[in-house]
Amino acid sequence: MFRCPYHGWTYRLDGKLLLTPHKIAYENTGIDLADPQFSLRQVARVDSHRGFVFASLAASGPDFREFLQDTIATIDNMVDRSPQGEVEIAGACLPYLHDCNWKMFVENLNDAVHPMVAHASVGKAARQLLHSMPEGSAYPPEAEIIFPFGSAYELFDRMKVTTLLYGHSYMGGEESIHSAYSDIPGYMESLVAGHGEEKARAVLSQNRHNTTVYPSFTIKDAVQVIRVARPIAVDKTLIQSWHFRLKGAPDQLLHRTITYSRLINSPASMIGPDDWDVYARMQEGLQSGAAEWVDMHRYLGQDESVSERSGMSRAPGTSDLSVRNQYRAWLQYMTGKALA
Ligand SMILES: [Fe+2]
Repeated sequence: MFRCPYHGWTYRLDGKLLLTPHKIAYENTGIDLADPQFSLRQVARVDSHRGFVFASLAASGPDFREFLQDTIATIDNMVDRSPQGEVEIAGACLPYLHDCNWKMFVENLNDAVHPMVAHASVGKAARQLLHSMPEGSAYPPEAEIIFPFGSAYELFDRMKVTTLLYGHSYMGGEESIHSAYSDIPGYMESLVAGHGEEKARAVLSQNRHNTTVYPSFTIKDAVQVIRVARPIAVDKTLIQSWHFRLKGAPDQLLHRTITYSRLINSPASMIGPDDWDVYARMQEGLQSGAAEWVDMHRYLGQDESVSERSGMSRAPGTSDLSVRNQYRAWLQYMTGKALA
């Protein structure tokens, strides 16, 4: 049921009014529970995929599958990483309020030039810790999550960035900053039992880093995290992280998912506050009006068209291609006109 948190009107899942509290006060007022005028308002369009429900307030425009383009393969991959082909939300949503415009967060998702600058101190501290450890001791499990953030530009370039229609994009494919994670005992066996060997290998061979479904959310298939960007004000954005349990997989997979957020995405992490600090400073700088333009020229002119029909393009991972693609979509949304 849906229950209004103010006066307690309660509705069935199909939106019909089930009851109003304090019935006596509505006697002879003409209220009829079965009358659709008292039902919840329907959104224009609803669709679902692998248990995720999507709604659109617009009655027209591209349909659900057309809109998602190849980002649907990221949802499929995250869910197929479960031996049962199903995921479930684990725990509550992790909120993180950012003092910046939502576009800065979304632009950052496929920005591969900032990690070695903005997150340099984390890599340095982690290396110092490892050097101080006795010879021959095993790396702590956190190391394999943190170290790829200090990778060279060449690795990120090799990962490539792929852009799609409607402003979507993703990095990686065969290789990402997640592809060198260690094996978890029993996981491959459970995946082969659920999917067969061939599909199990195919599922694990897809490694995307931050698939951006423009403008509102991002998926990490290899880590089982979805983050939703909710604009609150011109300079305030709430980021909500949701973590998923792969049904039928060893618990250690979920531990790695949670560890990833604890180390990278949470307000108390070692990486997230670096980004937060830079976003807040950029917001302040841009609001001063000192600079008219923000440069987005990286690897300009070196995009490779993968599919003209679906508008898919690819470039070295440190290219600004994904940001240019986002503003192309944004201009279209704001003006109804495509960028020439
Ligand atoms: Fe970052």
